[in-house]
Amino acid sequence: MIKISGFKISKHHSSNRIVNIQIEDKTLEKLSEKFSRFDLTAIEYKPFTRFTVAKYLDDLTNNELSKYLNDILRDRKTGCFIIGPEKITNKTDDIFLVKLSTAITHLIGTPNHDSMAGKFYARFFVKHEDKSDSYLRKAYINLDLHTDGTYVKDVTDWLMMTKIEEKNVKGGESVMLHLDDWESCDELFNDPVGRENFIWSSPKSKNVDYKVEHPVFFKDNNGLPQISYIDQFPKPKNMKQGQFLQKLSDALEGSKNKVIIKLPVGSAIIANNYFWLHGRKPFKVNKNLRRELLRIRGSFFH
Ligand SMILES: [Fe+2]
Repeated sequence: MIKISGFKISKHHSSNRIVNIQIEDKTLEKLSEKFSRFDLTAIEYKPFTRFTVAKYLDDLTNNELSKYLNDILRDRKTGCFIIGPEKITNKTDDIFLVKLSTAITHLIGTPNHDSMAGKFYARFFVKHEDKSDSYLRKAYINLDLHTDGTYVKDVTDWLMMTKIEEKNVKGGESVMLHLDDWESCDELFNDPVGRENFIWSSPKSKNVDYKVEHPVFFKDNNGLPQISYIDQFPKPKNMKQGQFLQKLSDALEGSKNKVIIKLPVGSAIIANNYFWLHGRKPFKVNKNLRRELLRIRGSFFH
């Protein structure tokens, strides 16, 4: 494993493909001091300040961190890392975590506009009660394995999910699956229906008023499978497409090679969105259940 001063880097205990990066206290102190120059309004209103906070982070590592994070995400064998404070203190509050998430993503690429939130990131709660129209906030239902950005025109190379806080939570673990670990990948990737165009559209809360067309599977530059899929948004236009999607959904959920992760508060999962799928297990029922998440999605710098 590479060594970067101020960080503890290891393989994550859940999977050889996932790198675990802990930010040491002294690094957090320095960051917190630097970040205090800007409030969230500046970060939201002035896109260049996002790059400034990213540079603060990278400068602490002699620009080694940005190179390393990009290498992980582009490497087919890994493609995923978990990063967060080694210890949660009063300094690592929600504002700090938004800034830290902003800094990390701006070392990787440019975030897409998040239509649900109206800015480059979205913060949202999962609670006991939910009246929304998508599975994202339904605490007691499995959020099936999927990729992000399936119904938008923006390129979505990567995604970040940060856990800002949680209370009274049991269950709700993150679930990840790498395409190369998936038992049914070859069979479904080679099914001609998977290469046909599907129509994708989203429910109202997503604030996207157009539809897009694309296949479920496509090839990367080396001919390896990539996927863009979520259960709720493709609109099959015939029985053949409907059956294909059912088979795909069953094969994903039935995989024995899913990685289950209990993400600590303050930590984030960042994954390549074309060969990693993500989901969430149901929570145990609790009236006072509360989890706040932050998400950012975007494209790589080219
Ligand atoms: Fe997602």
